[in-house]
Amino acid sequence: MAFWFNSDRERGRIFSEAFARDLPDLPFITDLTQVDPDEVRYVLTWTLPPDLDRFKNLEIVFSIGAGVDQFRIETLPTEVKLVRMVEDGIVRMMQEYVTLAVLSLHRNLKAYLAQQSEGRWQALPARQAADRRIGVLGLGMLGQAVIERLTPFGFPLSGWSRSPRQIDGVRCHYGAESLPSFLGETDILVCLLPLTGETRGILDARLFAALSPGASLVHVGRGAQLDHDALIDALDRHQLSGAVIDVTEPEPLPPEHPFWRHPKIMLTPHIASVTQPDTAARAVIENVKRHRAGLDPIGLVDRSRGY
Ligand code: NDP
Ligand code: OXD
Repeated sequence: MAFWFNSDRERGRIFSEAFARDLPDLPFITDLTQVDPDEVRYVLTWTLPPDLDRFKNLEIVFSIGAGVDQFRIETLPTEVKLVRMVEDGIVRMMQEYVTLAVLSLHRNLKAYLAQQSEGRWQALPARQAADRRIGVLGLGMLGQAVIERLTPFGFPLSGWSRSPRQIDGVRCHYGAESLPSFLGETDILVCLLPLTGETRGILDARLFAALSPGASLVHVGRGAQLDHDALIDALDRHQLSGAVIDVTEPEPLPPEHPFWRHPKIMLTPHIASVTQPDTAARAVIENVKRHRAGLDPIGLVDRSRGY
């Protein structure tokens, strides 16, 4: 029985130390030539290896990231479990990034940076946090964590999910029918949805039109959820006032893509949140122990929902 770590060397070193300490009876390998493929019970990876059927006794595929859309779950044998990354480091970094993005949009940071580059000293109209409504698409691990971090600023908060949720101090909406009313009461929209058949292309012209006029967008879900032309059009027509974009399709964007230089877009290269090896190793070890004890791993992906 073995655990195959199929990711970068630096993180592998930290994982291997944690496994040696906490799961000494489970061989931890980074080099597949060290082991008979029949021995591999667990793999941690970002995408599925092409020759997966070599691993006849595989039980769990652990995603190195929180998202699992890159796996095409339908290609995984039904007896193999897929587990997304649920660990504190990802959560903390996403809280930081979304707070930074929301406050930048709320306080007009992009416009002030432009004014600085022009040598212009001029105050722009400001709104109080109590008058800026934040709406979060996706109320899972990350959506809820972000809401918790934004709460002390005093923004009115709302969220949208697939099934009903109850969160203190948050107006919770769910299901496709409630999307328009949720959007109509949103000034800064944060997308933290997983990429599925239902959420692909969700950030489109119709959605932008349903937002409160002059609203802005923070996109940290997955690139394929956003219609780039629709965003540019909504910004250029002043329907939207700004956007912070961390994920795109494709990644990286080609050099001529309009997002690079658009005056109302702040762009980052998919760095909102990154799996932290110490905390991730702990989470994966805990999940192997749970699995061995006959329990479902934390972060087990539901095949029927795709996340
Ligand atoms: P979770 O699975 O914990 O939560 C997903 C949320 O989205 C749930 O609230 C779910 O609803 C909701 N949802 C899913 N489908 C729909 C739908 N069709 N309609 C309405 N709501 C829906 O995911 P996480 O919070 O852990 O992560 C979210 C995503 O963030 C990841 O999948 C990944 O794509 C992205 N991500 C981006 C990173 C970055 O650096 N930019 C880093 C890490 C993650 P319900 O509560 O009813 O299940
Ligand atoms: C993730 C990501 O899914 O990095 O963790 O986007």
